[in-house]
Amino acid sequence: MKLMVDFRTADSPESELLVTYAWEGTLARNAHLKDLDAWLDGHISDLFNLDQFTGKKNSTVRILPKNAIPSRKVLIVGLGAKSDFKPDVIREYGGTIGKALADLKAESATVMLPDFKASVMPSQRIGQFVTEGILLGSYVITEYKSEPKEIILPDELCLSPFRKASIAQIDKGRTVGEVTAWAQKKVRELVSSPAAKLTPEKLAKLAEQYASDYGFKCKVFGLAEIKKLKLGCLLAVNAGSDLPPRFIILEYKGPKAKPRKVCIVGKGITFDSGGYSLKTAQNMLDMKGDMAGSACVLTSISAAARLKLPVHVIGIIPTTENLISGKGYKPGDILTSYNGKTIEVTNTDAEGRLILADGLGYAVDKFDPDALLDIATLTGAAQIALGYSGAGMFANDDRLAAKVEAAAAASNERVWRMPLWEDYQKYIESDLADIKNSAGKIGSLCTSAAFLSNFVVKTKWAHIDIAGMDVDVKGGSYIKKGSSGVGARLLIEFLRLWK
Ligand code: BES
Ligand code: MN
Ligand code: ZN
Repeated sequence: MKLMVDFRTADSPESELLVTYAWEGTLARNAHLKDLDAWLDGHISDLFNLDQFTGKKNSTVRILPKNAIPSRKVLIVGLGAKSDFKPDVIREYGGTIGKALADLKAESATVMLPDFKASVMPSQRIGQFVTEGILLGSYVITEYKSEPKEIILPDELCLSPFRKASIAQIDKGRTVGEVTAWAQKKVRELVSSPAAKLTPEKLAKLAEQYASDYGFKCKVFGLAEIKKLKLGCLLAVNAGSDLPPRFIILEYKGPKAKPRKVCIVGKGITFDSGGYSLKTAQNMLDMKGDMAGSACVLTSISAAARLKLPVHVIGIIPTTENLISGKGYKPGDILTSYNGKTIEVTNTDAEGRLILADGLGYAVDKFDPDALLDIATLTGAAQIALGYSGAGMFANDDRLAAKVEAAAAASNERVWRMPLWEDYQKYIESDLADIKNSAGKIGSLCTSAAFLSNFVVKTKWAHIDIAGMDVDVKGGSYIKKGSSGVGARLLIEFLRLWK
């Protein structure tokens, strides 16, 4: 499906399918539909007047206009009440279109776009969000079906701005949207990849491939180098696995990059059994997706390179399985992390914070970044506290927190700030070592962040816990049930807003 931007009207002859929108209420509230309604002999008035279609958000109605207009098929999508409008409605508009496309079976389509005052939503954002919605909504993972249902999408889909003057801005947004949707789709694919398929080695190979495809640096450390670097926590978590770990470093420096460096660490557990502190069967179900954070890091840095963003960003991905064997690490073990702190293992299922400890320590030591982020499916407690609706965010710097919040607002991948109170350090005190890796259930979301803070020390840092969000239980308009790909667009927005 090729996306393009051109100014068209409802009677333009170019496409088989015409898609347009309606605000909730009556036809009188939808002046832009007046001409189409006249050409269709009052069909749209009837829909409203006979209460068949009211413009409710994400509701749709199909019309076959015979020869009234050149397009053979018409789809009208409700945007909800104008008074409830927020920019994500445009992403949902795209998502609803994307989902409907397969059924509409059109070879070409034109999508009419509304417009707003720049203060409400600039044209570039309209182009970006509708593109994201269309590409994400029409995407289905079929590679594991022996006989996948064939999905026919239009060869060409034209975005038509409300006014001609917005073409260039909409088109700019389309380019951004294509890349951000690509990133999110890749995260969805990686999160749904079985652990036997997406191994640490494969993840590293993919990182190397993206680095060469999109033009950034990638260095991969294998077992011997990881031992030499003394990444003691990564080694311990890896001990029970038959597959070797990887420590992946990505670096992209854009043209005219701002001098302030960003470093992002992503949790890359390709399967989390819990280790000897074994998970229940139920809790183990989605654990092939415990590398969601690392997928977000890899795809967002690829996206930064594809969009040639003026940023200098480093990605760090410690990756391994967390399994059981005679060689596995055990409760009671005492580990020495990269930055020298010793950790008593009180729970082998708190493995994410261990590999992040090495990743964060390494980032601070080698890169001294101006902002350090990490993203991880870290705690069941994040899922319990915030559900599937948002990520727990911790930051030791208010300005950095505000930047993450701004990126969350733009991407609609919500974060909610949680406290890094000094108290929590007491929870993770160990009698034997410097700290312990788990303090049990009480305050578990906050104590995991408190643990990580030991490996950051003075660097400005934000931790994003996306546990639970990597799998969407319900599905929405632009994200289907299953792996959601949440996190990549958040990071890309962060990098786009970075100064
Ligand atoms: N990968 C899990 C967290 C998780 C839970 C992600 C549910 C996605 C959905 C993590 O490694 C983990 O097991 N955390 C434990 C820590 C505990 C033992 C302190 C948890 O939160 O239960
Ligand atoms: Mn775990
Ligand atoms: Zn885990």
